Formats: sequence, structure tokens, C-alpha cells
Amino acid sequence: MDHTFHITVAGKGRYSARAGDTLLEAGQHAGFGFPHACRNGNCLRCVGQLLRGSVTQRIGNQATNTRIVCADDASAGQVLYCIAHALEDCEINVPDITAPGELPVFDVSCQIIAIDDLNHDVSRITLRLPAGRRIRWYAGQYLLLQTPAGEAAFSIANAPGGRDLELHLRHNDENSSAQEVMAALRQDTVARVQLPAGRRFIADNLPQRPVWFVCGSTGFAPAKAMIEHLLANNFDQPIRLYWGARTADDIYLPALPAQWVRDEQLEYVPVLSDSTATDEGDAGAEHAGAVYRTGLVHEAVLADLNGEQPEFHIAGSPAMAWAVFDALSAAGVPAADMHSDVFDYAPRE
Ligand code: FES
Repeated sequence: MDHTFHITVAGKGRYSARAGDTLLEAGQHAGFGFPHACRNGNCLRCVGQLLRGSVTQRIGNQATNTRIVCADDASAGQVLYCIAHALEDCEINVPDITAPGELPVFDVSCQIIAIDDLNHDVSRITLRLPAGRRIRWYAGQYLLLQTPAGEAAFSIANAPGGRDLELHLRHNDENSSAQEVMAALRQDTVARVQLPAGRRFIADNLPQRPVWFVCGSTGFAPAKAMIEHLLANNFDQPIRLYWGARTADDIYLPALPAQWVRDEQLEYVPVLSDSTATDEGDAGAEHAGAVYRTGLVHEAVLADLNGEQPEFHIAGSPAMAWAVFDALSAAGVPAADMHSDVFDYAPRE
């Protein structure tokens, strides 16, 4: 009888492997992306560590070339999974393995193609990925930009596909680190980035229900990427965009959501928290063709909820994202329906 064993991939998930299958074959069948090339024990691409359990490894077809490796053996750090068969439940660790649906991560140098000022304190940076490499990301994911001051995370503001990456950077007087990043980008022609990152995204399987985006300031960037992805894939459910800002001047691409409203039947609700800071500040005034409201962005969302059950994507500062989470939770929205990178990088105790 062919036994089946549970294989745990450290930090990535689990799959089942029959005794007759190599751990690489069974893992690939379950959707794990094993690094590999030769599949016969020569190239060493699939090497990894056996953390728990035991396997047999056979080089070639000769039974005499079979040896057993246990997790506490000295050789457990050098197991070749293309020729390894489980003898019991195992836990393994393989550098660069990807979980089902997870994309490989790349460290690359990009050309800085353009820097455009979008308003008084937000700039759009356009980077171009190197040619000849298939680098993928999902709409809503972010990248890590290497700067002289360290690593900085930026949402990718355009839908996947192509070689260009659009970033939105807010660099006002209150944010000296953003100003340093901006100064470094203006001086350079190349930027070093790592991508993709982030678990809150919309991939190829589109949601089967309405999607509401709730964003503050440059939290518009990931919302923009996801909306572009949905529209490009003929998403047939309602989309709403709530964009909170302090004043109308802080909404830095006002014509774009206005165009979506005209062409795509998307609903757009700009929300201003400071109605006195601009001449246009009266509630109900028109902003690039959209009527905006005053107050906090989550208040506008709550006012419209009326028992609807959309999927929420929330992007902005941790304070803003958690305020939206709390308000929606209190209104009965399940936590599983709310997605934000903030919940991963700035979790509450
Ligand atoms: S794939 Fe080449 S050694 Fe495993």
C-alpha cells in the first residue's frame, strides 16, 4: 500500500506526499514553487533542510545508491528534494520556495524613468524593471525601495503587467525621511528594489461580490492598482472608492476617479476632514465632477453601508486603517472581509 505523509513547509503551509512521489513532485502538484532544474540530484537547486522526520534519497536507479536522512543527521541541511521520498511526516525548509499562489521575490535595479509632481506634496515616481526577466506582482502589493537612509515600503500604484512601476510619494515638511527619499531619487538614475511584498491584494481570481476601497492620502496608490486590475478584467460587480484627505488640494489625482465614474460606473466619494481649509470646502461641493463630503472617511462608509456586504480594501496610515476597522467591526462587518497591509505591519497587541 502506498502511504501518504503530511509535509510541512516551514512558514509556507502543508501538502500531502505519497511514498512513491518525490517531495518535489508532490509539492509541485500541490502548487508549491520548488527551485529546481535537473530533477536528478545533480544541479543542487532544490537543496533544503529537513527539520523533522526522515526521508530516503536515491541517486540514479540503483537501490544501492539509496540512503536514509533523519532530521537530526549532520546531512539534514543538504537534502535534495527532487530525489527525496518521505518515510514519515516531515517538516522541510527550502530557500526561495513559494507557497501556492505566492510569487517569487526579486532584488533588481530599476531605471528611474520619470518623477512628476502631482500636487503640492505628492510626486509620482516611475521605475522601469530590467528587460528579459519575468517579474510578477499582484494588484495591491508593494515593493521595498533601498535608499541611503534604509529600506522604504511603497505600494505599486499601477496594475500588474508591463515593466513600469508607479509609486506615489508624499513628501511634506512634516516627513523628513520622505524628503530624503525624494532627494535621493532626484539625484539618481537607478533605484534598487525588492518585490513583490504584501499579502493583501487582488489576484487573478476576482472577488465574487462588490468591492469597496477606503483610502487616506497616498493610500490611493494600492486602491488605484486594484481598481485598474478589476476594470481591465471586466469585473462585473459594483466598485466604490472612498478617498479621505484633509483638504480638496490633498486629493492629488482628482481627474482619474472622475474619469472612472464617467466611463466605468464606479462610485466615488471624496471625503474631506477639514472643510475650512479651502475655498471649495463646503460639504456637497463639486470636486472634479464628484460631490464630496466632510468628516472622517469611515463615517462616510458607515453612512452608506445599509446592510451591504462588500469586500473592503483599506489603505492609509495605521491610525486611519484601524479607525476604519473599528468602525466597521462595530457595525457588524466581519474582520475577514477587511483587508489592509496595516493589519500585517502594524498589528495591535
Ligand atoms: S533539481 Fe537538481 S538537484 Fe534537485
